[in-house]
Amino acid sequence: MLLPDACSIRGPGSALLDQPLVPLDLFVKNITQLVTVSSGGDRVKTGPAMSELGLVDDAGVLCEGGTISWVGPMKEFRKKLPDDFPELDCSGKTVLPGFVDSHTHMLFAGTREKEFALRAKGATYQEIAEAGGGIVSTVSNVRSATKKELKKQTARFLNDLLRHGTTTVEIKSGYGLDLDTEVKMLEAINELGKEELMSVIPTFIGAHAIPAEYRQNLAGYVDLVINTMIPYVGRKKLAAFCDVFCEEGYFGPEETARILREGKKWGMEPKIHADELTPLGGAEVAAEVGAVSADHLERAGDKGIAALARAGVVAGLLPGVSFFLNHGYAPARKLIDAGVPVAIASDFNPGSCMSYSMPMMMTIACTQMKMTPEEAITAATLNGAAALSLSSSAGSIEPGKSADLIVAEMKDYRMLAYHFGVNHITKTIKQGVLLEV
Ligand code: NIG
Ligand code: FE
Repeated sequence: MLLPDACSIRGPGSALLDQPLVPLDLFVKNITQLVTVSSGGDRVKTGPAMSELGLVDDAGVLCEGGTISWVGPMKEFRKKLPDDFPELDCSGKTVLPGFVDSHTHMLFAGTREKEFALRAKGATYQEIAEAGGGIVSTVSNVRSATKKELKKQTARFLNDLLRHGTTTVEIKSGYGLDLDTEVKMLEAINELGKEELMSVIPTFIGAHAIPAEYRQNLAGYVDLVINTMIPYVGRKKLAAFCDVFCEEGYFGPEETARILREGKKWGMEPKIHADELTPLGGAEVAAEVGAVSADHLERAGDKGIAALARAGVVAGLLPGVSFFLNHGYAPARKLIDAGVPVAIASDFNPGSCMSYSMPMMMTIACTQMKMTPEEAITAATLNGAAALSLSSSAGSIEPGKSADLIVAEMKDYRMLAYHFGVNHITKTIKQGVLLEV
């Protein structure tokens, strides 16, 4: 987790941050509608609790030293603040926790708009991958890019994420598929977390695809991941999580479990890309290895859903991928009704979802997956934090948590998902630092 005094908040991509920064103390006052998503200390919300947003009318939030120290109705605020204490008046506005985007691949080089055009003509994601496009085409671009180039583009993205209300983001490796490039990616991700005003969580996904040089030798590549990459990444502490793309033509359930168990030995918590294109049983593997989250789940069946519920694995749903690839939606209602904690994330990447707008993901979740606006907000905040094992410090507006808040130009939080495709966020507060969007 980024600490305010440990980061230079004017990194290479930070045009937004070239403005004067208000200090880490801030009294956010006269908030017309405050959405706290408070959980009273619970790690996640499940079932009906996902609809409880902990609303407070005419509210205030006191941020001291980058941390929330008080939350409540204005009329109950008693503390005497010095005359020069920075204040932000939020009358007529809604304030929410900053979004936690718990699944992205936003460090990449090159774009894939040609594939987008091919899909518009009927080609599928798998057909494009089999013809040499897809993940491995981004891999060759990332292998030839320098760390500096990768960081420059991603810093710009991070800056724009803040404008769209995201204050914590997970970024995966997985476009290297050889030791040097995976390490280059992870170093870049870690450095961005120190240099930019954003909490950046690194995930190692060496098992994202099989590189061309191992096409006929899956076992050899799995060996490389297990015996060379994981020990190196683990020893250097470059990643908090280890992830695998468990899919036909990529890594099967058995290889997935082996890789994730090895990652765990080296201190990386398991995550899975599960049951996205085919129902391979990734959800069951997630439960078996004690994964923090199982993501995608478009094809997850009843057995997988029951296994996730029993094991308390967070279902990381990615509405933007289903929308962008037009390949069907994850069974969000079934998951919520079965008691699985549901998070939503963008999966921002050049192939399957070229967007990092969390409000847009919420709109798709509501219209296509029949989640309620309340569930969508919980999924994009507290439950996203849980998918990153961060709910003790992020995901809700409660004393003791990081002062990560967003100010939306509206009096009712439902406007956020309802009035879609535009940006309603006018201010983002990251660890108490106020940014005008
Ligand atoms: O989560 N499914 C695998 N990985 C990414 C896609 C990455 C890409 O196409 O570049 C995903 O959808
Ligand atoms: Fe992904």
